[in-house]
Amino acid sequence: MDHTEHIDKQSSAPLPGTLAERAAAEAAAFTTAVAATRVLRSPESVEALRLSYLGRKGKITALLEDLRNCSKEERPAAGKAVNVLKQTIEREIELLKTEAGAWQVAAKLAATPLDIHLPVDAWVPQGSLHPVTLIRREILGEFRRLGFTVYDGPEIDYDFYNFSSLNMPSDHPARDMQDTFYIKEQDHLLLRTQTSNIQIHCLLNEKPPLRIVAPGRVFRVDSDPTHTPMFHQVEAFVVDRGITFAHMKGTIDAFMKAVFGANMKTRLRPSYFPFVEPGAELDLQCVHCSGKGCRLCKQTGWLEVGGCGMIHPNVFESVEYDSEAYTGFAFGFGIDRMAMLKYKLDDLRTLFEGSHSFLGHFPIFT
Ligand code: PHE
Repeated sequence: MDHTEHIDKQSSAPLPGTLAERAAAEAAAFTTAVAATRVLRSPESVEALRLSYLGRKGKITALLEDLRNCSKEERPAAGKAVNVLKQTIEREIELLKTEAGAWQVAAKLAATPLDIHLPVDAWVPQGSLHPVTLIRREILGEFRRLGFTVYDGPEIDYDFYNFSSLNMPSDHPARDMQDTFYIKEQDHLLLRTQTSNIQIHCLLNEKPPLRIVAPGRVFRVDSDPTHTPMFHQVEAFVVDRGITFAHMKGTIDAFMKAVFGANMKTRLRPSYFPFVEPGAELDLQCVHCSGKGCRLCKQTGWLEVGGCGMIHPNVFESVEYDSEAYTGFAFGFGIDRMAMLKYKLDDLRTLFEGSHSFLGHFPIFT
């Protein structure tokens, strides 16, 4: 550093004792005070610092007052120095205030150490499987034990699979038994009304011998304590050479005994379904009174749970199977109805209301 440079620097510095020089001294003192405040890390020390510079009796306020007594020559430089200092201090104080927020959070966290230990007897809600899921798993489990394969099919389907190939052509009055949701402007698309549509998909995609169980959602325009517009069915069917009504009766009986106990009795009543011949209504001995007669079974001792029968030759013909060579049986029943009977529920709709107090009664695993 040469001498000239040294003098240059000095000449631009404020004269000792002038207001500008005092402002420079305050600036240096302020920098030290800020450093000290950052060490203290308390919001109170930030406020104290603010008051001591910017408060009514603060140092900047005093300098601004002194500015009035300055000589004309001194005033421009002094005014500038004091205002620059004031702005610097204001900015710095704002910054400190923000930092103080973080200091407070850090102090709080440090004061309350995190306890990672859980009491061993803590009750943790576990949830449970829905009763329809529970019974469906049980039903499918029993069918698997009987040698059946689980098969799936579409919930939105063509009229062909849900009706016409099941021996219900478009003008057939049996269609009225199932109030159907049709897809707007798509004449041939509908929400399936029964899982029997899976029979057709399966017959077309696979080859006999077939032993199939097909669960799923079905839809009908229906709503009261024992009907909901969406419900669940299971369809079971067997197709091979030489399948008889006796095979069907034996399978149904074995299955119901597996689900409801060895004392359960089943009964078939002649009935009509377009896609079976002969057809029957499938009844279960009343789960409430064991056949003695009560309100639930309307004193008959029996509860209707589904339909069954030998697959109609017209169904085989519609999927180009030789109805002379192959025979088969099919039966279908409501899963929700089974849940009602097994868990003794009196309103089907409770299954679909999502109430925790109701659903909480069911076990997680079976
Ligand atoms: N799909 C029939 C229904 O929903 C039930 C059924 C299935 C009847 C299989 C006979 C054979 O009403």
